[in-house]
Amino acid sequence: MNTFVTGRRLARELGEWRSSAPAYRSLADRIRVLLMDGRLASGARLPAERELSTALDLSRTTVAAAYSKLREDGYLASVRGSGSTLVLPGRERGEHATHQGLALDFTKATAPAYPGMAAAFAAAAEEMPCHLGHDGFDMVGLPDLREAIAQSYNDRGLPTSADQIMVTIGAQHALNLVTRTLYSPGERILVEQPTYPHALDTFATVGARILAFPVRAEGGWDLPEALLQIRRAAPSMAFLMPDFHNPTGMSMSIHEREYLAAAAQREGTVLVADETTAFLDISRGELPPLACFSPNVVTLGSLGKIAWGGLRIGWIRGSREILARLLRNRPASDLGTPLFEQLVATSLVRELPLLRANRSADLRRGRDTLVGLLAEHLPQWTVNVPDGGVSLWINTETISTSALALAARAEGLGLVPGPRFGLDGAFERFLRLPFCYADEQMSEGVAILARLSSRVGSDPLRMPLQAVI
Ligand SMILES: Cc1ncc(COP(=O)(O)O)c(C=O)c1O
Repeated sequence: MNTFVTGRRLARELGEWRSSAPAYRSLADRIRVLLMDGRLASGARLPAERELSTALDLSRTTVAAAYSKLREDGYLASVRGSGSTLVLPGRERGEHATHQGLALDFTKATAPAYPGMAAAFAAAAEEMPCHLGHDGFDMVGLPDLREAIAQSYNDRGLPTSADQIMVTIGAQHALNLVTRTLYSPGERILVEQPTYPHALDTFATVGARILAFPVRAEGGWDLPEALLQIRRAAPSMAFLMPDFHNPTGMSMSIHEREYLAAAAQREGTVLVADETTAFLDISRGELPPLACFSPNVVTLGSLGKIAWGGLRIGWIRGSREILARLLRNRPASDLGTPLFEQLVATSLVRELPLLRANRSADLRRGRDTLVGLLAEHLPQWTVNVPDGGVSLWINTETISTSALALAARAEGLGLVPGPRFGLDGAFERFLRLPFCYADEQMSEGVAILARLSSRVGSDPLRMPLQAVI
């Protein structure tokens, strides 16, 4: 199904699109960035030239020239009578899927597999024959794995039994299932600003109206704003990352956890706590999970960041009542989690303290290397050093990171520009840089950024900063 992008929506997504290039070219470039980083979908229909020229207060000739440039470069297809549709040319699609053409792909903030991974696969292969006598459709998870996950919560001070756990195909699948189950048409969803881009993608699939409240480098979670939004709009759910928030790497204090949990419980909003990043501690120490403060919390977990993204194992922890509802909704999207990966996951979850210690040492090295490289080559950028997570959330102060991402791509460096983490073009000056890559790769990446930053940064600012942190 083709989505239709209105002129007003495109104007919002474009944010600060002007650069020192001619207007038609800047506009075409920015639309291309939006397509490449997923803010506009391939197949989406752009507004008519007249509509966009009104929304942007531009001449129609400029918009027509921008569309014509996109068409010429293969990013726009026009069919008489049905408007202009965005297309991701084969070259770009191939790069996206296989990372070919990008010598350095910093679009993913995820580390290579835990060193014990191959052994866990080998052990699972030995165990697998015992499971071949059953049908193999597993909608809730293997008992041993659910038991091990429940135990990991008990170890963190959150009493949990195995029947409060559903194993899923990663946390992204878990979020989809939870959203389809908790959300009803017309309701709202509250998110942090910035937030995890694929959570926004999931909420878009149910047509949710999104409300946001800021998470700032100074001051943390804006509790009064969150309370205001919860009281005013009674969102059905709020999506939060309390531990090593992606992309900022920040963690909620105990006070923030207590406050948000109490406010949401009072107003009947379910808190969805995404703990995909919760095991990525470098120097913070343990904090109680958000679910310790209210029964009204559904927690998502994953082995993606701590063990390996390629394993595709995640889970949901919730009340038995919510789990029963999830189970009823699950067959519409999938018929269970693969058994082999669950066997691998069972041994990994049992070894979680070892995995955490191993990751922590690597992340510390990566973080300190990247912070050092930036201090040396890009000292004008503001970097808050996180005590966990896999990336730095950098305030470049002056640079349009959408333009930077486009220029970097031409040099073989993949980046996610700041606005991918915000609503309506916010965070144009921000950049997420992962520190889970090899030293030489980070060094090469920073050298490219330093070279490009003077070029991209020389563009005049035409609009005030929209970022909220
Ligand atoms: C906050 C957050 N949630 C969910 C996911 C997706 O996790 P999974 O790979 O388990 O689907 C990620 C992956 O980057 C993430 O950062």
